Amino acid sequence: MTDRVYNFSAGPACLPESVLKQAQKDLWNIDNTGIGILEHSHRDACFDRVTEETERACREVGNIPDSHSIFWMQGGATSQCYMVPANFLPEGRTADYFQTGKWANDSIAEVPLYGDCHICGSSKDSGYNFIPKRKQVSHSKNPVYVQYTSNNTIMGTEFHDEPETPGDSFLVADMSSNIYSRPMDFSKFGLVYAGAQKNLGPSGVTLLIARKDLIKEPVRPLPKMMQYGLHAAKNGRFNTPPTFGVYLMGEVFKWIIAEGGLDAMAEMNKEKAAIIYDFIDSQDFFQPHAAKEDRSYMNLTFKCPSPELDKLFVEQAEAQGLTTIKGHKSVGGMRASIYNAFPRSGCTALVAFMKDFAHAHASATTA
Ligand SMILES: Cc1ncc(COP(=O)(O)O)c(C=O)c1O
Repeated sequence: MTDRVYNFSAGPACLPESVLKQAQKDLWNIDNTGIGILEHSHRDACFDRVTEETERACREVGNIPDSHSIFWMQGGATSQCYMVPANFLPEGRTADYFQTGKWANDSIAEVPLYGDCHICGSSKDSGYNFIPKRKQVSHSKNPVYVQYTSNNTIMGTEFHDEPETPGDSFLVADMSSNIYSRPMDFSKFGLVYAGAQKNLGPSGVTLLIARKDLIKEPVRPLPKMMQYGLHAAKNGRFNTPPTFGVYLMGEVFKWIIAEGGLDAMAEMNKEKAAIIYDFIDSQDFFQPHAAKEDRSYMNLTFKCPSPELDKLFVEQAEAQGLTTIKGHKSVGGMRASIYNAFPRSGCTALVAFMKDFAHAHASATTA
């Protein structure tokens, strides 16, 4: 690391350095066209190349089957909270939702505009610090789909397995904060969406992976911009797409392939998280927020013995180049977001700082 710091931001988050360097060049002149990527028409040959390569690399990384379309949209992951029920949930039918934190709640809040919402599992009563297990889950009679947030960015909890889907319901996942952090069987999903700004690229573009048969027609008349099928049919170019975001996602996918694909990502992410979790488990100054078996490999949440010490920790960490580590206001404490592109050395630097901090302040808490 030179003039850059360790950026623990939950998103927009740090990107692979090689991707940023390539982007610097392509901003000025991409493919020897004499035009930078930001200046190219989304209908020209250069952007055709970008679109094709981004889709191809996305398919290769995730082993996405031909049964599924890949496309992108704007409006953030938040727009998908209403897009999903608008496209899939007929009036009078029910969709099952896992209530595991703020982002899940944002989705749940939009469902009644279109149909009925059944909470099939919830960790609300314990501050969303765990993932409901099979015996804690109760599905509605005949849900159209089951939706879950695969990684709870704010709480630091993660589904390590996909939930079950009763009957002929299909699975919908908000994978904004752990997509492509490990291999997953995407053939199991009806729809996956992910805001790019954590593991895939910049903010402003949302990746969608959708089963083709499900998105042919929405279940009700909808404005064109709200129809998944139209966006998919036009390869994410129904209207002007966020061209830079699409380009950068493609570069991130190519980086993942060069690093060894999702097996390599998974191994690296496990190793990075273990550096921090092993330390947290070895002492009792810092307390984790999430239940051990449901801890996230992407967002690691923990607290000092008091809010005053949390504040001091954040200030002193910042001064040492360990930035943006303050926890979300609803949880407090700290959150270390260590997505695919976050370097291993940042995890060891954080643990070294945590050790020093605990050593300096342990007496204050035991006195
Ligand atoms: C899991 C999850 N879902 C949804 C969102 C909302 O994304 P956006 O701000 O792109 O709408 C976030 C943002 O951090 C998130 O972490």
